[in-house]
Amino acid sequence: MSDTQPPVMIAESDIRERVAELAGKISADYADKGELVLIGVLKGAFIFLADLARNLTIPRAIEFIAVSSYGTGSKSGAVRLVMDVRGSIEGRHVLIVEDIVDTGNTLGYLIGILESHNPASIRTCTLLHKANHTKVDIDIDYIGFEIGDEWVVGYGLDYAEQNRTLPYIGNVTPTD
Ligand code: IMP
Repeated sequence: MSDTQPPVMIAESDIRERVAELAGKISADYADKGELVLIGVLKGAFIFLADLARNLTIPRAIEFIAVSSYGTGSKSGAVRLVMDVRGSIEGRHVLIVEDIVDTGNTLGYLIGILESHNPASIRTCTLLHKANHTKVDIDIDYIGFEIGDEWVVGYGLDYAEQNRTLPYIGNVTPTD
């Protein structure tokens, strides 16, 4: 437990409220479409995915995909697929669930990979969006919160593997 406690940027109660709102919207949008496959992007989206999935009122299945886009700090690098989805998504409705969209490289890359599996549809959902940083032209269908340029941790997000399990979103200033 060497984690420090970064200042609160988005409180636990605000996250809970917003996740419930997003789940309500997604449930309404997919109400007559059968099962929705939620694909969580590891590691950062694991907590958001768990809360979002439990708030949905529609049939859903859970898959995970893992990419590595950064080293141990905050410097950006090439996106690499570390683990593909296990189940078939062919002909199924897919929602990619991301923790945060920064440049958009990761989400753009994932859409490309998942499209090659021929799903019925692909939509995207992210808890956080750094709109000022996003360079890749992608549609994000569901966004929890727009944030600025700061590095954020907690609720699944880390800085060098620290603070992932904080219950709130806090901000830290990277030193590398
Ligand atoms: P992108 O490819 O630049 O959009 O970056 C997306 C990935 O970078 C996310 O899935 C996170 O893993 C990581 N990331 C970007 N910004 C932050 C941040 O502020 N905190 C923690 N992780 C971040």
